Amino acid sequence: MDLERYLAEKTELVNRGLKDLLAGQDEYPRSLHNAMHYSLFAGGKRLRPVLALASCEAVGGRTEDALNAACAFECVHTYSLIHDDLPAIDNDDLRRGRPTCHKAFGEAAAILAGDALLTAAFEIMARTPLDDRERVLRAILDLSRAAGSTGMIGGQMVDIESEGKEVPFPALEYIHIRKTGALILSAVRCGAILGGADEEKLKGLTRYGEAVGLAFQIADDILDVEGSAEALGKATGGDEKKGKATYPALLGLVESKKRAKELVDRALSAIDGFDGSADPLRAVARYIVARNK
Ligand code: IPE
Ligand code: IPE
Ligand code: MG
Ligand code: MG
Ligand code: MG
Repeated sequence: MDLERYLAEKTELVNRGLKDLLAGQDEYPRSLHNAMHYSLFAGGKRLRPVLALASCEAVGGRTEDALNAACAFECVHTYSLIHDDLPAIDNDDLRRGRPTCHKAFGEAAAILAGDALLTAAFEIMARTPLDDRERVLRAILDLSRAAGSTGMIGGQMVDIESEGKEVPFPALEYIHIRKTGALILSAVRCGAILGGADEEKLKGLTRYGEAVGLAFQIADDILDVEGSAEALGKATGGDEKKGKATYPALLGLVESKKRAKELVDRALSAIDGFDGSADPLRAVARYIVARNK
């Protein structure tokens, strides 16, 4: 399948959805909506929305049933990046090829833009135009748990607390599975739930989502070591400088790449029993470790 084309089509769909569903850039207070739009429309890969849509498709669901969720995941993700870049967290100046939100708008606006994007995600999710409200409720529950203190934010907390320390491997796994894996897993699961997956399909997709979620952060760590800042749109080499707990730091590059590949194989075998409608998910899994941005 033509992944590049698939990604471009879905990105277009999601960008339109985000524009329709969120307050406009010029709405009052302008400084806030400007900051939100600035970070949201800076050219992210839209991987979490793509995963939600592809997962919905893989279980025979309709794209429109997962579109609000896809947009909601991008809002949560973008908020997490804005806050991740703040001086108190990773203190980064470049994101998605432009100055980070706090560099462009100041810390207060960046914090509030993140808050607003997080909140908007739940409104957007609740406004999913699907008659089966039980599915919508399940998806909202899944996202809230993934984004919260035992998911993404828990991972971020331990990430920060582990800076400069020697971290045992289980702690590294804890960080990666939560700070990045949880949201990716939830995007996959919510797409499936909204698409009407049966329990067996949901189980397979859950195993797929766990594997690609972890693989994604391993690849992110590897790119921080050997990627190009120009392609990535963010600075490289920061993890080592900050003493971050990363796969390359703990296991070395060779072993990290091996583990990432193994996880892709695990993801692919988890959806072995799916037909050709899961091909986009298969292609995305391979892309996650082969990407250069
Ligand atoms: C970067 O995510 C942050 C992590 C969770 C590793 P992405 O690499 O998906 O960033 P964008 O959305 O393409 O900018
Ligand atoms: C980011 O991890 C995880 C979240 C934003 C939740 P990183 O700190 O490694 O992401 P980058 O490298 O800054 O994109
Ligand atoms: Mg971070
Ligand atoms: Mg960071
Ligand atoms: Mg990183």
